[in-house]
Amino acid sequence: MTSTSANPSKNQSNKPAWAGDDWLARLVNQLIATPLLYRLMKQQARRVLIKTAEKNGVRWRDRVAELDSEQLRASLAEISNPDLSYPDYYQVPFHAYDAGNLCWLAALEAEPATQSMALRVWKDESLSPDVAQQRLRHSFLEAIAPHLPQTIENVLDVGCSIGISTEFLHRNLQTRQSQPIQTVGLDLSPYMLAVAQQRDSTGQISQWVHGNAEATDFRDRSFDLISLQFVLHELPRQATTAIFQEMRRLLRPGGLLAIVDNNPKSSVIQNLPPALFVLMKSTEPWSDDYYTFNVEETLNQVGLSHIETIPTDPRHRTIIARQVD
Ligand SMILES: C[S@@+](CC[C@H](N)C(=O)[O-])C[C@H]1O[C@@H](n2cnc3c(N)ncnc32)[C@H](O)[C@@H]1O
Repeated sequence: MTSTSANPSKNQSNKPAWAGDDWLARLVNQLIATPLLYRLMKQQARRVLIKTAEKNGVRWRDRVAELDSEQLRASLAEISNPDLSYPDYYQVPFHAYDAGNLCWLAALEAEPATQSMALRVWKDESLSPDVAQQRLRHSFLEAIAPHLPQTIENVLDVGCSIGISTEFLHRNLQTRQSQPIQTVGLDLSPYMLAVAQQRDSTGQISQWVHGNAEATDFRDRSFDLISLQFVLHELPRQATTAIFQEMRRLLRPGGLLAIVDNNPKSSVIQNLPPALFVLMKSTEPWSDDYYTFNVEETLNQVGLSHIETIPTDPRHRTIIARQVD
């Protein structure tokens, strides 16, 4: 079954005009390809992000200082998988960091940046960072709840970053059943994983694994639920397809793949002011691929069964698919 609970207006477009191959998208790409302009935009993106966050109660600089320590930096070697090679699409600037996700600053700022991202969803309401984060996570968790397998033993959070998505997912699922759940966080950035491990001070997550979601070392059919939370917009389409194929291998029969990410049909995203969509594109190198990619069709093509796509908040959609074999 394929359904969409969106309430599309007659003029609804499937994607923003600033992404893809429209003249506007090409113009923005030309601006970004100009080195001096790109440098300015990167700096501007960073300033906007930090300013908005601090204005709304996010303790950006304090939190970075609290998280950083010699012990944290020393844990990098232990958590890193030395045999891993990084795909080309990953070794480009992301989020205004020249080294993308492969640096300490990106990992130390991921927590305040994630809080800021949730606040932007409800920017006209004066929510605290914690309340905005809870709303963001619960809208996704409520959408997947009706489709969850009856009992869950093993969960994988792909692209777990510093573990915020992993923690919310694990805690929520664990309240639904008494049997213990083993949850694993997987990410390509050992810096993010080092911070995730440090934040998980009670060890509620079974394992933080450094790996590429396109080809993991997990056994066939080892998970009941796999989530991809805010990961797809960071991927070119061939990587997304490879990850879906790998997730199909890892899911047990009846298992669920649950995705949440930017909604190309969101009127908020489609109508972002030019300054914001240029900034967004300058910090998210795979935006054109993401906004023009048919996720649902690809899920079905790799052999998963798309169940539902739901706009779960003003900016994001949740996409749910099942392993039917
Ligand atoms: C925006 S963050 C996700 C944040 C997190 N899931 C949350 O909801 O708060 C995207 C993450 O995906 C990871 N990632 C990107 N490509 C990946 C791949 N091929 N395999 C594993 N992780 C990947 C990045 O390192 C980054 O930490």
